[in-house]
This record gives sequence, C-alpha cells and structure tokens, in this order.
Amino acid sequence: MYSEDVSSAAEIAWDDLRALARQAATRSYAPYSNVTVGAGALASDGTTVVGSNVENASYGLTLCAECSLVSDLIRQGGARLLAVSIVAGDGAPIAPCGRCRQLLFEHGGGELLIDAGDNAAPRRLSELLPEAFGPEDLGIRRNP
Ligand code: THU
Repeated sequence: MYSEDVSSAAEIAWDDLRALARQAATRSYAPYSNVTVGAGALASDGTTVVGSNVENASYGLTLCAECSLVSDLIRQGGARLLAVSIVAGDGAPIAPCGRCRQLLFEHGGGELLIDAGDNAAPRRLSELLPEAFGPEDLGIRRNP
C-alpha cells in the first residue's frame, strides 16, 4: 500500500494515523499535567508506529508521545518516518514541542509530514524546524 516514494500529503491516510494517535492517547501516563498525548505515524516500510506520553514525579523526566513513538520505530526496524499525527486527549492535533521536532527530524528529515488537523494542510517538518541541525552536520563540523 505504502512505499518509500510516498511524498504527497494527499496519499496519506490521515484519518487512520489520527485514529492510532487517539487510541495511543488513551494509554498515556499523565497524572501530573493531565494532558494526555498520543502519536501515530506511517513509516517508509509501510508499517505504522505509535507512542504516548509518560510523565514522571520528577517532572523534567517526562517522555513525550513522540519520544515513545521513535522508540517504537526503532524497535520495529528503524524505517524512516513519512507522516505523523500527534493529538491531545480531546482528539485534536497538537504541534510537536521543540525537543520533539528535533527527535522527529533525526528519523524523518525535513520532508516529514505533520498533521495539522482537518482545517489546515499538513506541514513539512522543515517548516516547523527550519535550518535544522542534523546527523550530516556531525560529519562536516567534527574537528579533524
Ligand atoms: N507532550 C507531548 O507528549 N508531546 C508534545 O509534543 C508536547 C507535550 C506532553 C508532555 C507532557 O506529558 C504533557 O504533554 C504536557 O506538557
């Protein structure tokens, strides 16, 4: 159904990804903020991956839903991320936090499509994280 060359937002089954994200949000652990978050993504091998936020009593150790999604991706074999939907407990898409934009960039690059809801076109990660620092920079900028 899906392949590496999926490049158009129109080819993505956004409703399916949103449904996965909403389901994942019901398995969140968010007793401190009471903001439950779920994420669902399509990977380049045609599989889907999910994640939910996991908070901690020492607040700063909170794991965002995208962090958990990236773990799922790597556990499944580490394909590239093509499209991701991130929703809060109300079922509506939310923007990924700054840290998670960087996490997603590592595994999807600037072409990664981010769900923006029914009333807006999906966004490329390059719009949300312009001029990103990435893995290529390490090779170029490392001291000789
Ligand atoms: N959260 C996410 O899971 N992803 C984001 O991109 C934004 C924030 C979670 C972290 C925390 O558990 C809760 O939302 C409130 O910040």
